[in-house]
Amino acid sequence: MGVSGRDRPLGPERFRLDGAVALVTGAGGAFGRVTAIGFARAGASLFLTDIDPARLAETAALVAAEGARCETATCDTADAASVDGAFAALDRAFGRIDVLVNNAGINPMQGRPEEFPTEIWDRVLATNLTGYLHHAQRAARRMIAQGEGGSIVNVASIAGASVLGRGNLAYGVSKAGVLQMTRELAVDWAQHAIRVNAILPCQFINDGWRRAIDDPERRPLVERVLSGIPMNRMGEADEIVGPILFLASSAASMVTGVGLPVDGGNLALNPGGSHAGLGMKEMIL
Ligand SMILES: NC(=O)c1ccc[n+]([C@@H]2O[C@H](COP(=O)([O-])OP(=O)(O)OC[C@H]3O[C@@H](n4cnc5c(N)ncnc54)[C@H](O)[C@@H]3O)[C@@H](O)[C@H]2O)c1
Repeated sequence: MGVSGRDRPLGPERFRLDGAVALVTGAGGAFGRVTAIGFARAGASLFLTDIDPARLAETAALVAAEGARCETATCDTADAASVDGAFAALDRAFGRIDVLVNNAGINPMQGRPEEFPTEIWDRVLATNLTGYLHHAQRAARRMIAQGEGGSIVNVASIAGASVLGRGNLAYGVSKAGVLQMTRELAVDWAQHAIRVNAILPCQFINDGWRRAIDDPERRPLVERVLSGIPMNRMGEADEIVGPILFLASSAASMVTGVGLPVDGGNLALNPGGSHAGLGMKEMIL
């Protein structure tokens, strides 16, 4: 079944990816790993990349254990030549691509805007934004040649739609760029039935957040983050799979150019608003 909606089952089969070849970047990380496993269970064949070969191999073993075909390439998404190498390996392994999940992202440093180091800015933008474009271009050229459409899912962030503060300048700007790039590419490639969408996760528990949660000194930061999430918890990595699978599959065959918050209500909450009923007795807005 294609991911463009040309076959139209009405039931949950519409969420399946049988016969599709999916490339997932950052596949060794929290989101990449569960997405790869989820896609394998949905019937996809996987081409997985990461800059870290050990983490990549761990994910590949988990995907292979699901019985899915899985090939890998070590790739630095910030380096165009490295991305070309990964796509050459994809061509040799599968000779096609139906789904791209642009997921590899970094946030190596927080810093005051007036002092933010240019080399960190450049590295964040190269990985989180230009790297997504390099993958989207190479995927789209192949999808156009195949003539069957395709689906691109860009992992953005709430940080691209509102300001996290705390020195996340480069990260926030990179994710805002991803959201606009999603709309630009969606409009341009709609003629080829290539859908381009984004998700905007709030804080999900990855290695970095696990360390913060376990550190009593960083409890105020964790509490502050939770105060912005009406569901009053961070996400668990597996909760990213459904939204990505939805956008990747033909269940979303008429959805393109959107940014889907996966944020426990974070972007719905006014920054001065309250959840859990705080302030209700005062009869004020
Ligand atoms: N976890 C969260 O709270 C959260 C929230 C919003 C958005 N996101 C976004 O989700 C995506 C995945 O995040 P995660 O939580 O899984 O992070 P993670 O750190 O667990 O995984 C990121 C993976 O990307 C890889 N990577 C880093 N730089 C790379 C490069 N240049 N080339 C190739 N691979 C590279 C890492 O080796 C790692 O395996 C990122 O784009 C991130 O910005 C995460």
